[in-house]
Amino acid sequence: MTYKIAVVPGDGIGPEVVEEGLKVLEAAADLFNLDFETTGYDYGGERYLNTGEAMPEGAVEELKQYDAIYLGAVGHPKVAPGILEKDILLRLRFELDQYVNLRPVKLYPHVETPLKDKGPEDIDFVVVRENTEGLYCGTGGLLRKGTPHEVAVQEMVCTRMGCERCVRYAFDLAQKREKRLTLCGKTNVLTYAYGLWERTFREVAEEYPDVTADYAHVDATCMWMVKNPEWFDVIVTGNMFGDIITDLGAMIQGGMGVAAGGNINPEGTSMFEPIGGSAPKYTGKGVANPIAAIAALGMLLETLGEEDAGASVEQGIIHAVSKMDGMGAGKMGKSTSEVGDLVVEGMAARS
Ligand code: IPM
Ligand code: MN
Repeated sequence: MTYKIAVVPGDGIGPEVVEEGLKVLEAAADLFNLDFETTGYDYGGERYLNTGEAMPEGAVEELKQYDAIYLGAVGHPKVAPGILEKDILLRLRFELDQYVNLRPVKLYPHVETPLKDKGPEDIDFVVVRENTEGLYCGTGGLLRKGTPHEVAVQEMVCTRMGCERCVRYAFDLAQKREKRLTLCGKTNVLTYAYGLWERTFREVAEEYPDVTADYAHVDATCMWMVKNPEWFDVIVTGNMFGDIITDLGAMIQGGMGVAAGGNINPEGTSMFEPIGGSAPKYTGKGVANPIAAIAALGMLLETLGEEDAGASVEQGIIHAVSKMDGMGAGKMGKSTSEVGDLVVEGMAARS
């Protein structure tokens, strides 16, 4: 069979790091006798500036035909903040119903963490972020705009169905890992929204007696992620908290250059991306770190069910990072494409 992959390189450093991911995809195809057909799409800031729309009519329907989507980054210095994010990234997450945003926080050997006395054995957990509701739903509005009496309402929408499917996904994942799941919420203030989450979480937990289920407020979660990250195995949380704690997670795993995520619809088309953004100031210089994009590609392979190929990408990453000076753009001691080559070298060495 041939896997059909839609590739959306996007803006800024997106195309450069995606190119390295595709290099790794080709290597994986060779090593594991897999067949991929990739189709590129120009959705992003340039297209928006030229045509007035970031994605054409019918794009979402077209993307549904693929086995997976590989996304670089969205965000263009000449486009006002919010437009591309909403018209591409959030639209795809919502309309493709990618209800889980899966974000591993894993420190690889030789990668520097700002946490003192913590190493790879301490920093290895996964955040399951709800990806279609919460504060991201876009409902609310303004009253008396531009006057001293202006009112802004931005609603947090949580449904039983939405949090339950996410919680179930997290329990299933915890069962395959160390069987520890933490709900991250704010039940002392957001009593309606996280009250629903907690009730759902407790009910579902009954079906998973082998999984230790506990709870932490989001502020305390931030504290523990820095103080005792080894306490976490799987964290499940709502959309906004998940967004915030995974940037903190990215920092403790070595920076934005290594953090990857998957927007998962277990029954449909999922989309994989480095979580760091388009980084316009590094664009076209060959200094961006492609590890996050390559790790996203590894998640893509794993989600397709190609676990061996996914594991080999991880081996390649472990090899590459051991040869790099650092993970920051311009601080790698290697160029973007040299890092991609190192990953491929590490994959090949394995088989
Ligand atoms: C992320 C990003 C997005 C989000 C932005 C670009 C809309 O920060 O993927 O974490 O908030 O989800
Ligand atoms: Mn974010």
